[in-house]
Amino acid sequence: MTKQIIKMTVNGEVQEVIAEPRELLIYVLREKLGMTGPHVGCETSHCGACTVDIDGKSVKSCTMFAAQAQGAEITTIEGLGSPDALHVLQESFKEHHGLQCGYCTPGMITRAHRLLEENPDPTEEDVRIGMAGNICRCTGYQNIVKSILSAAAEMNASKEAAQ
Ligand code: FES
Ligand code: FES
Repeated sequence: MTKQIIKMTVNGEVQEVIAEPRELLIYVLREKLGMTGPHVGCETSHCGACTVDIDGKSVKSCTMFAAQAQGAEITTIEGLGSPDALHVLQESFKEHHGLQCGYCTPGMITRAHRLLEENPDPTEEDVRIGMAGNICRCTGYQNIVKSILSAAAEMNASKEAAQ
């Protein structure tokens, strides 16, 4: 199969990778670019563990070929925060026990980040609907919803304080 060079921006850095047309984006991110935050769960677009942000939209990266990401701007969980400087959402998940095993968490937080970009002041129902594509086998969702609502409140308070 003919390999091709794929150029994309990942977490603010321009990257060039060589991939076959059959290679899924999730594997290229994890195995060729070292972005192991997004996880492989179902590989059939159901669980959301592989969620990344592509050109301002939440995308399950097991559902597209890497070749389709030519020229795209991609953000993974690694681009949202770092161990020394957690994103507000990461802090909130930590504080409100929004995770147990953590397998779903990178996808959850990346999706929640896009949700709050689109709707900075969501209701609980908005959060539940907006997160419906991400499955967690551990938490029962209550604390995930609480974490996202709390992060939204904190982000809005910071914005108000800065005005
Ligand atoms: S691994 Fe992509 S949606 Fe489950
Ligand atoms: S915390 Fe285990 S799958 Fe969500």
